[in-house]
This record gives sequence, C-alpha cells and structure tokens, in this order.
Amino acid sequence: MPLLSVQNLSAYYQTEVYGVSRTVRAVDGVSFELYPNEIYGVAGESSCGKTTLIKVISGSIKPPLKAHAGSVNFQFGAYEIDMLKISQAELRENIRWKEISYVMQGSMSVLNPVRKVIKTFEDIVDSHQPITNKKLFLAETQAHINRLGLTDDVLDAYPHQLSGGMRQRVAIALATVFHPSLIIADEPTTALDVVVQRGVLQTIKEIQAESGNTVLLVTHDIAVHANVADRLMIMYAGRIAEEAPTENIFAAPLHPYTQHLVSSLPVIGERSTKASLKGAPPNLANPPAGCRFHPRCPLAIDICRTDVPEMLQVAERHRVACHLVKDGSQ
Ligand SMILES: Nc1ncnc2c1ncn2[C@@H]1O[C@H](COP(=O)(O)OP(=O)(O)O)[C@@H](O)[C@H]1O
Ligand code: SF4
Ligand SMILES: [Mg+2]
Repeated sequence: MPLLSVQNLSAYYQTEVYGVSRTVRAVDGVSFELYPNEIYGVAGESSCGKTTLIKVISGSIKPPLKAHAGSVNFQFGAYEIDMLKISQAELRENIRWKEISYVMQGSMSVLNPVRKVIKTFEDIVDSHQPITNKKLFLAETQAHINRLGLTDDVLDAYPHQLSGGMRQRVAIALATVFHPSLIIADEPTTALDVVVQRGVLQTIKEIQAESGNTVLLVTHDIAVHANVADRLMIMYAGRIAEEAPTENIFAAPLHPYTQHLVSSLPVIGERSTKASLKGAPPNLANPPAGCRFHPRCPLAIDICRTDVPEMLQVAERHRVACHLVKDGSQ
C-alpha cells in the first residue's frame, strides 16, 4: 500500500500586481505514489515546480499558492490523512517532525542562529514530548548525532561556527529524531562542495536503509539522483515527463527531455562538448499549449503543439508522457 498517493494534483500561485492578476501553474496534473522503504527522487531544472510540489504534499500551502485540483493522501498506520484539508494545528501537533520532516537547502531555516544547536533539539523535542529528564535527553541526542558522524561538541556550537556540511548533517539529525515515515529533502546538498555532498548523501542513504522509511529527495542535480534514488520522477514545467526506477531512467530514457538530462551527464574520458538544450524553460504564467516541452524538443511533431500528451504506462513501473512513445519505445 502506498504511503502517499497524489492524484491529478494542480497547485497554482495566484498573484495580483498593480491590478493585473497572474496565475502561475507551478504544478499541473501531477499523479504519483510513494511507497514505504524507498528513496524517490524528483528531478528537473530550476523553476519546474519541485519545491511547490513538496509544499503542497506536506501541507505547507500558503497564499499566493493554492491547491487547484486533485488529492494528496497519506497513509499513516491505520489513518489516512487528507493533506489538502489538514489543519495547521493538527499538522504541527501530530504530523510535522513525527511523521513528515524536512531537510532544506542551507539548513538555516531550521537552525536558530542565536541559539546553540542543542537548544534547537530541545525546542523541537520538548514541543512534542516534554523533556522530563535532561541528562537522558542529552545522552540520547549525543548518541543520535554520533550516528550521523557528528561529535558531541557540535551540540554546544552556534550554527555559524559549523561548516555547511555539518549544518546539513545537523538538519538531517533534527529531521530524524522522531523516526518519521517520510523525510523530504529539498536540494539538501546544493550549496555544498562535491566531497562534502557525497558524505551528506551517504548519510541520507544510511539513515534510510537503517530505518526503512521513505525519503523524497528533490534536486535539480541528476548526478545526485543517479547515486541515491531508487525511483525517479522527471518534472518539466509543472508536469511529470517520465517516472521509472533510476536504473531504467539512465539505461533507457524514453522522454526527449529525460534523454537530454541523461546525455548531459559527464562521462569519464569523453572530451566532446555536450549539446545544450535550445531555449529556456517556459514561463509558467503562460505555458505553451500541448506538450510544454515542444518549443525546445528536437523531435516535436504537429500534435505536440496542440495536444497534451497523456501519461502512458510503458512497463510495470515506468510511465512516460510523450506523443512519440508507444509501448515502451520511441
Ligand atoms: N511565491 C510565489 N509567487 C509566485 N510564483 C512563485 C512563487 N514561488 C514560486 N513561484 C513560481 O512557481 C514556479 C515553480 O517554482 P518552484 O516550485 O520553486 O520550482 P523549483 O523548486 O523546481 O525550482 C516558478 O515559475 C516560480 O517562479
Ligand atoms: S510530446 Fe512531442 S514535444 Fe513533447 S517531448 Fe514528446 S516529441 Fe517532444
Ligand atoms: Mg526548489
């Protein structure tokens, strides 16, 4: 049974500037499911709607963002929770940190710059489960951060005294205190250099393998997904272009946009320059008709300019939305 089921979800930013209203169709008709014990990657270039998607599924919708259509249901044990209807109070008390937690880019949104790291742990733990034994709390917190490769002195530091990689590990430690069923990581390694990035990704993988929970890993960096994700969703301009197990995405990508992403990965020993994609991603306030990729697609045909391609199931866990893809081939 899926842990999360998203069906036909659309979420738009509705803004009004100098009396002119604008609708940004950041997430448009997205359906997917997350299962227990997997790392599910969401890839796609900047501004394609990745962060908006996770805001909606985690119940963090605030104006000007509005859910326009569709459903988001979480299955926690025997309970099914409608994330589009959940109250902020219930989210705060029962869901956030305990069932769903976040690791964000830069990590400073969760760390208070004027409080020592241990105080942030105290605030989060105490707000869900009042701390009655401070010694035990400290010992448990130390053991927890040690498991993530951090030493005890980190708890006594202010966030600015830590490196970016250590702060990201602290953010992961905070996100895993209550062993949530779902950890959402939004560009968790984007600001880090490659070596530190590898360490943080390894930590995310180890934690997931140990606890068997689900990780939703969002990053524009397809190379990160190649190393970490079990399954991968490729997003383009607010829609899903393709979804498959990661090895299928890299071995046999079917959507022209996925093919571009995969072929743009550097190959050791190869000297030729990679072909770049012409044009820019569309403005989601006025997206192109038909397939939103058509103005940039080298394979576009007439129907692509008028008809939205349907999502086609081409193999057991492989879905593609492209007019040229039929029965698993292009
Ligand atoms: N608060 C906002 N108001 C209006 N548009 C927004 C807002 N936040 C994001 N957007 C727009 O929504 C689209 C998707 O953004 P986002 O979800 O942040 O993409 P990603 O995470 O893939 O970079 C972009 O066109 C972005 O400009
Ligand atoms: S539907 Fe058409 S424009 Fe879109 S990816 Fe397929 S071939 Fe290209
Ligand atoms: Mg983002």
